[in-house]
Amino acid sequence: MTNSETKATLSFSDGSPALEMPIYKGSIGPDVIDIRKLYGSTGMFTYDPGFMSTAACNSSITYIDGDKGELLYRGYPIEQLAVNGGDFLETCYLLLNGELPTADQKKEFVATVTNHTMVHEQMQFFFRGFRRDAHPMSVLVGTVGALASFYHDSLDINDPHHREVSAIRLIAKMPTLVAMAYKYSIGQPFVYPRNDLSYSANFMHMMFSTPCEPYKTNEVLVRALDRILILHADHEQNASTSTVRLAGSSGANPFACIAAGIACLWGPAHGGANEAALSMLEEIGSVDNIPEFIAQVKDKNSGVKLMGFGHRVYKNYDPRAKLMRETCYEVLQELGLQDDPLFKLAMALEKIALEDEYFVSRKLYPNVDFYSGIVQRALGIPTALFTGIFALARTVGWIAQWKEMISDPEQKIGRPRQLFVGAPKRDVPAIDKR
Ligand code: SDX
Repeated sequence: MTNSETKATLSFSDGSPALEMPIYKGSIGPDVIDIRKLYGSTGMFTYDPGFMSTAACNSSITYIDGDKGELLYRGYPIEQLAVNGGDFLETCYLLLNGELPTADQKKEFVATVTNHTMVHEQMQFFFRGFRRDAHPMSVLVGTVGALASFYHDSLDINDPHHREVSAIRLIAKMPTLVAMAYKYSIGQPFVYPRNDLSYSANFMHMMFSTPCEPYKTNEVLVRALDRILILHADHEQNASTSTVRLAGSSGANPFACIAAGIACLWGPAHGGANEAALSMLEEIGSVDNIPEFIAQVKDKNSGVKLMGFGHRVYKNYDPRAKLMRETCYEVLQELGLQDDPLFKLAMALEKIALEDEYFVSRKLYPNVDFYSGIVQRALGIPTALFTGIFALARTVGWIAQWKEMISDPEQKIGRPRQLFVGAPKRDVPAIDKR
């Protein structure tokens, strides 16, 4: 971060003294105006609901250029990492450490993660308290938060070793917990992790194997899942990452912070959109119904949105959506489902929307969630678990951002202010005077 020679001057039409504020430059992307002295100098706050024009922190992890539709993890384009890069654990190492691992570093990292994939045997009793039809995200919020009760040896956020151990534990145990949530929902026994399988193959094994017969993973499907995890791993200061940072700014332990991130990701405007997008496609049913659906979307009173479309930052095609569509096609091909009606419907809907003025004028393009439901459904993942997979993948991003915040000398507890529009001070009337 460097000081720009240009300063920002805030002047007031009522002749109040102008305020000069420094401008900082990052390595790439928009500059920022440092407004930290604004309230002390003017007695006024900025007003920015939804933080449309607010940088809450400085970060070196993920960069998004919304106009170009560009996504970089530690400077590497997502296209390179997801297609000809290594696997998800390599991306985890990159996000956590800032550089891609050497072969030896990767070997050690994979071994460390692999040897933390089991959860405490008593964790299973938390699942028993849920209804079988509980939404997996409610189970994950509960069980991830509960992890803190088992690891008193790694809760000191000011101890770098504790932070490292917690990071590994969360990345390693999320697949186990997500698979346990699925097994519990279908009444099948939990499947223990296997140390001879890769991260994604192990997840597929814990999800779909049973004690009754050998389970063989399909390498094409494993690679597709691994790519889905890479695409979802991190995404700058999105709502759930900002939630994790805000929770962490109070000194809450990492398990509590990740549980808060999971809760935020659950919303249909955020991580819940993949589940909502698939339900939307199933509701539209056929290409013939697309015009009627599009008309509903354009009718503001309908409250209907084209789920999986639009983004706060991307005003161009989300690069992850392109890669997700390719992955979707590969998986459907592998499974002999290339004529999957929902995939054809999604592509027809995308084509029509991208030629429609309503979407073009608002720069609404497919985002990561538009195709992810179709490919996860083809992989055998139930719709209700889609956001749980998103949380599994995003755990490394949340942890990397949390670690960066904890070690940032500028970090303070997050405490936004407000524009108060309620009742000014008044006296309490006696009840017979109300
Ligand atoms: C994720 O932040 C991240 O990085 C998130 C994420 C990540 O990796 O962490 O990328 C993951 O959350 C992706 C987004 C998934 N959500 C959806 O697909 C839900 C559908 N999308 C919308 O709800 C919406 O696009 C948002 C929430 C994603 C973005 O909303 P914004 O930036 O607040 O934009 P907006 O709601 O102000 O929309 C601008 C206009 C409005 O119309 P007007 O008032 O100008 O007439 O576009 C319209 C909106 O009504 N609009 C849509 C729409 N999205 C925006 N209209 C129909 N369908 C949509 N999907």
